[in-house]
This record gives sequence, C-alpha cells and structure tokens, in this order.
Amino acid sequence: MAKKVVVLGGDGIGPEVTHAAAHILTEAGFGLDLQTPPCGEKVLEEFGTALPDETRESCGEADAILFGATHEASVIIMAYLRYVLKTYANVRPLKYYVGSSSPLANPENIDFVVVRENLEGMYPGREGDLSDIAEAMPDYRDLLGKKFEDLGEGKFAIRVITKEGSDRIAKFACELARMRKKAGYPGKLTCVTKQNMLRQSCGLFRQRVEETLKEYPELDYEHFYVDDMARRLVRFPREMDVVVTSNMFGDILSDLGAEVVGGLGIAPSGCYGDRVSYFESVHGSAPDIAGQGIANPTATILSAAMMLDHLGMESEARALEKAVAEVYRKGDTLTPDQGGSATTTEFAEAVLREIG
Ligand code: IPM
Ligand code: MN
Repeated sequence: MAKKVVVLGGDGIGPEVTHAAAHILTEAGFGLDLQTPPCGEKVLEEFGTALPDETRESCGEADAILFGATHEASVIIMAYLRYVLKTYANVRPLKYYVGSSSPLANPENIDFVVVRENLEGMYPGREGDLSDIAEAMPDYRDLLGKKFEDLGEGKFAIRVITKEGSDRIAKFACELARMRKKAGYPGKLTCVTKQNMLRQSCGLFRQRVEETLKEYPELDYEHFYVDDMARRLVRFPREMDVVVTSNMFGDILSDLGAEVVGGLGIAPSGCYGDRVSYFESVHGSAPDIAGQGIANPTATILSAAMMLDHLGMESEARALEKAVAEVYRKGDTLTPDQGGSATTTEFAEAVLREIG
C-alpha cells in the first residue's frame, strides 16, 4: 500500500519549497499518497488556528510528515510536530555537494551529522521573573554563591536535561554512528557540552552519553566544549562523523555547519520519534524572499530523501539525492543563494530531469 505522507507548507517560503519537493515526489512516480491539509498563518482566519484539528488528525495517521517552515505566529505547528508527536531526535546531515557555495577554500568530502536532542534543554521556554524564582527557591546559591534575591530585577530561564532524554538521544546517536561505520564512515561519536560552566546539566548529558557508549565498543569517542566545537566545525569539519548534543547547542551548530557545507538553502533534517517522524529543512521561513519564487528548495528536497529512507524506500532516496548532486555538479540551474538565477520551479524541474 502507498505510504501516506502529510505535506505541511507552513509560512514564508515553506509552501514554495514543499510544493517543489512534493512535485518531484509525484512526478518521479515514487508512489506515495501525498496529502496537504490546511495549515499556517493563511488558515488562521478560517480555522482560528494555524493547525486545525483535521490537520492534526492527518498527521497522527501519517507514515511521515514533510514540513516547510513557520513564522513565529504559527510556532504552534512546530510545537505540535516536536512536543506532541515526541520527535526527540533531530538529525541534521551536513554534507558538501560539489558545486554548492561553501565559503571554505576546500570543502570537499565534508560529510557529518549533527544529532540534536529535540525536546529538552532551554527549548520549552521555561522563563519568568527573578522575583518569582527568588521566592520559590530562597536558599538556592549559584556557582558564585549568590542567591536569586541578590540579583535585582530581571528574568530567568531554566535548562532541563533528564536522564531519560539523554539516554534516548545517546542511544539514537550511537546507533546512527554504528550504521554509518558499517557503510564505511569512521564510526566516531563527538559529544558537545558546556560542562565547564553547566556542571550538572551538561555533566549529566555527557555522563549518559559515555555510559551508553559502553555498549558500542567499535565506536571512537571524543568530547568538546561547544565554543571549541564551533571553531572546529570551521577548521576541521572533515574530522567529524556523528555529533551528539543538547537542543540549543545543536540548533546553533547545525546552522554553522550548514553554512560550512554551502548555505542554509541546502541543509536538510529529520525529526524522529518512536511513532511518527517529520522532515524539514534546517532553515526558517525567510520572509524577506517569500512569494518571489526564488527560494532554494534543496534543503526540503533532501529532507524528502531522508523521509524516503525512513519509509524504507532506499533506492528512491538514493535516486533523489543523486539527482540533486548532479544538478549542483552541473551548476547551470542553481538558485540565487547559490550564485545562480534559477527559480524554485526551474531547480525542481532540473532535479526531475536528472531522475529521468
Ligand atoms: C530550527 C529552528 C527552530 C529551532 C525555530 C524556528 C524555533 O531554528 O529548527 O532549527 O530553533 O529549533
Ligand atoms: Mn535553527
């Protein structure tokens, strides 16, 4: 039976890039059942929400979801896809395609993956007034010996790292590194924290990663602080294989890594849960170029390739990836962010021609 894929465009350039990807999936004859229920700011007025019930239902029954991007106003969509569907592992492959516009003099053969914990850390936005936390925790003292009440007027943010969440992402990353090793990659896990300052939360994350690794003796391992890691991703990107880190560090490092391999326009991602998984670009809704038909759909197309892999359609996934690589190698149908003048649609048609 055809796999059911829900396509959610979202806002900004989201609908343009998902439309291009869905067009390729359909025209290439991959035999998916693609559905496009309403979502995003444009349906706010009609449904009173950016994510109507019927759309949630479709997502709940889908084999996979392909997502575009959201504006802040419909961040509810992201919250649903991540927190309700519990897609805890955000996998962001950072791979250089010959012909893409990396700022590095020699970007050849960069090919690593950031595995970002997708539900914890700073993300659920647990913030508030300092006066409230001073009242709730009157005796608490920070690393410098200060109490909250000593800090004056201001705000706090809480970063939560759980043992369960850390074990879950550590196992996911180890399994991925093991699979990649079987496919010829180095088989190395790089854990990234800021344990020098966040001794407890980062300490727990690192400890659970190192504990989990005991089950994977074939993997090499290293740990770096996040500032050092940022530098290494620019200077030594080829030394990376699988990078595992907490939510916000992964958010930041994956944008950096995307730029290193050729720009945000080409970086895909997948958010995996135990039941349903969804696939989206690393980039956002790019409101400055929305509606002009010039957005680069590569990131969403490569996210669709990750989705095909997830659906067990490996040969289709490889065909799609190979077609994208070929369009970059030829270089005559690239979008403006990559130094070309092709439209979103022209790029998609070029990919389709390569699939043949
Ligand atoms: C991403 C995005 C999101 C994030 C935003 C839109 C909330 O930047 O997927 O990386 O920070 O996770
Ligand atoms: Mn981001």
